[in-house]
Amino acid sequence: MATSVGTRRRPSESRRSFRIHEDVPSTEDTEMNEQALRDEEEGDDEDAEPEEAEAQESEYSESSDDEPVIDTNIQQDMEKLQNSFPGFRFKYRLIKRIGEGTFSTVYKAEDLQYDTYDNSWDLERGDDKWTPPPLKSFSSHDGHQLQRRRKPKYVAIKKIYVTSSPTRILNELELLHELRGCPNVCPLITAFRATDQVVAILPYFRHADFREYFRKMTIPDMAIYLRSLFSALASVHEQKIIHRDIKPTNFLYDPESRRGVLVDFGLAEREGTEWKPCACSKTRKIRAPVPPRAGPAGYPKQDSRPSRRANRAGTRGFRAPEVLFKCTEQTTKIDIWSVGVILLTILSRRFPFFNSADDVEAIIEISTIFGQRKMKEAAKNHGCNFETTIPTIGTHGFTFERIILWSTCRSDTGDKLTEQEKLAVEFLGMCLQLEPEKRLTAKQALKTRFLRLGMDTSSEDSDYGEEDEMDLLKE
Ligand SMILES: Nc1ncnc2c1ncn2[C@@H]1O[C@H](COP(=O)(O)OP(=O)(O)OP(=O)(O)O)[C@@H](O)[C@H]1O
Ligand SMILES: [Mg+2]
Repeated sequence: MATSVGTRRRPSESRRSFRIHEDVPSTEDTEMNEQALRDEEEGDDEDAEPEEAEAQESEYSESSDDEPVIDTNIQQDMEKLQNSFPGFRFKYRLIKRIGEGTFSTVYKAEDLQYDTYDNSWDLERGDDKWTPPPLKSFSSHDGHQLQRRRKPKYVAIKKIYVTSSPTRILNELELLHELRGCPNVCPLITAFRATDQVVAILPYFRHADFREYFRKMTIPDMAIYLRSLFSALASVHEQKIIHRDIKPTNFLYDPESRRGVLVDFGLAEREGTEWKPCACSKTRKIRAPVPPRAGPAGYPKQDSRPSRRANRAGTRGFRAPEVLFKCTEQTTKIDIWSVGVILLTILSRRFPFFNSADDVEAIIEISTIFGQRKMKEAAKNHGCNFETTIPTIGTHGFTFERIILWSTCRSDTGDKLTEQEKLAVEFLGMCLQLEPEKRLTAKQALKTRFLRLGMDTSSEDSDYGEEDEMDLLKE
């Protein structure tokens, strides 16, 4: 039996809260096994498969009406999807596959019943005026004008893999529903379920592959990109929701229109839901003492320490240090770190910037930048000891300025950062702080001089008065 959930309403219907129908017994175990859970937590590997890269590349340059040639297997999957839901083919015309992630396959489709519904989610409703084709084809044979037809409306259909737990699917849909109306957050139009198959219907957002444009970005381009991303995060964080998977493929950006939307709330969670006291806790007056390290550096043969468990969902290379240190009181600040990684990637022109195979390697990569002294301090804050004998990890690490000059091959030429680059690097430093409480918030980010670069001061954001950047961090 198929059921429809979510926000899609006939014009006469009143605004209802999100409702999920009684589910028919599923074939899937609610409790996922360790490996499945680990696989889920790993998130996507940023090194997208060539197939995905191709799909996104063509997306950028295609005209929205393109009918691509589709691989037979994909064609079969699309047929199967259309047959899973009664009447689906009358609602949506599947066009092509546009993304294949860890948790879902996403298709582009034409919304055939657009006019039947309330489309308040559609920010481009005014832009769909029909443009007449050249005069010749504008009239029918008998000279009568053809009926005016609006431009086709496209949606993204996210087919969530049946191996995802029902709790996880419900969590994603509920959070998306809650975040409706938030600027720069891709809204949920509606969702369907047939037995254990769930699809979410989202407005289709034209975007380019990050790898296609990030090397060409100027500093004002970066500011515009990040303003869009921070606008989304400011409203998401205001509702105490952590996205947990901020990375370029989850922020769909169109460099032409300079607009972006945040997608993929599959790993998102409410701040504080699974909190257990951590040594970093601000609520306790005295921090829990860190057990002194016994013996020389290295792995103990018999490790009798109690194991630590914490949510580490996210993507390799984008995880904040407190996630790697298994902090049990993670906050929305983990998203700010991930945005910092995106900015570091753009400024250094290197993608992926961090390329670790696991969390230990990720800590080593971060330590190389920040140095042992700061890492020890940060580890201690979360009740961990940080010890290393790796010679490339110095005591003080390196400044971001040096790293960017190196990675853009300017360290030998004696070149310095430009004034605008310095502003960007200063901002980067405020995002990539090892201690979450020292990182700026999304709201504070929007007030910085860097994010105001290239902004039309007469625009709606102009109410953000300029403030001393350092004061922002003291707030
Ligand atoms: N609304 C949309 N408009 C256009 N393309 C979209 C839309 N939503 C998703 N996509 C495309 O599909 C891809 C995968 O979507 P999403 O991140 O929601 O799924 P996922 O399975 O959780 O992915 P991953 O595991 O890669 O993070 C996106 O990176 C994007 O290319
Ligand atoms: Mg994704």
